[in-house]
Amino acid sequence: MKPESILELHLKNALSKCSSPGSPKRLHMAMHHAVFPGGARIRPRLCLAIADSFDNYDKNLAIAAAVAIEFLHCASLVHDDLPCFDDANMRRGRPSVHKEFDERLAILAGDALIVEAFRHLNNCQTRHFARLRLVLNLVTRSVGSVSGIIAGQAWECEKRASLEQYQREKTGALFEAAVMSGAASAGSEIENWRLFGEKLGEAYQVADDIRDVIAHPSDVGKPTGRDEVLGRMSSARELGLSGAVAYFDNLIDEVVASVPKFNNDAKLTKLIRNEAIRLVPKKGRIKVQKIDRKAFS
Ligand code: IPE
Ligand code: IPE
Ligand code: MG
Ligand code: MG
Repeated sequence: MKPESILELHLKNALSKCSSPGSPKRLHMAMHHAVFPGGARIRPRLCLAIADSFDNYDKNLAIAAAVAIEFLHCASLVHDDLPCFDDANMRRGRPSVHKEFDERLAILAGDALIVEAFRHLNNCQTRHFARLRLVLNLVTRSVGSVSGIIAGQAWECEKRASLEQYQREKTGALFEAAVMSGAASAGSEIENWRLFGEKLGEAYQVADDIRDVIAHPSDVGKPTGRDEVLGRMSSARELGLSGAVAYFDNLIDEVVASVPKFNNDAKLTKLIRNEAIRLVPKKGRIKVQKIDRKAFS
């Protein structure tokens, strides 16, 4: 079975444990809608790819970390789309959770995915308790109120904020946790991966900011032009479109340069380069409104 299908299977199994015949059906349907069908699943794929490159990694732990990270990511999207945040009616080409169900269920489904992510990780079958504790710490911090997603989103409610910190916390932190958790599940040195995760997360958000300006909703499966309308800090708004594209290209070079030496580094570098083209395509790669990187750089 392909690694992608194995991940989907584990996500399905984990989600099936989040309800019972006596629990509220519509809540479970809303949680399912948030997780399936997925998007790029980039964070769990990175976690598993890095773990898998080590000989004696703890498979159960790596998979539990990947599932928890994707649940947390999906929860963050459900909450991010709510009218009180980005008021987005579409996600992954379908109605966002509050549109398909309602706001109460979107809040609860997001909350439930957060709680179930940690329950799932905590219950993982492992003998490596120190590794589990480390992963729990990494993942918890990456979504928390100090330098995680919650902090990142909360910068939108402050009068002043730095774009770099906003992006690092709302997006970079979970990428960092994903790659470091992959290494942690193998008992390997996690610090070797921090810079790579941080840069990759930043690049991912810069790409998202660019796509918010130049992509068509049908290409990205979510509304575009929102950053301008909502007055959100964004790389494209701060640097201009051509500046943001140049910054993105530069960041991708930095991401590649920060890949630590390990036995799958060539494969990981290739994955990064392919993702970069998928996110901000060269002319003609995919149909994205007005996109022509050469014209902007
Ligand atoms: C969207 O993340 C939010 C950002 C941090 C840019 P993804 O682009 O990874 O969303 P999916 O999971 O693939 O839909
Ligand atoms: C979302 O950032 C980051 C989260 C923590 C959810 P955006 O608001 O820019 O992401 P999209 O464009 O809605 O996917
Ligand atoms: Mg947002
Ligand atoms: Mg948003």
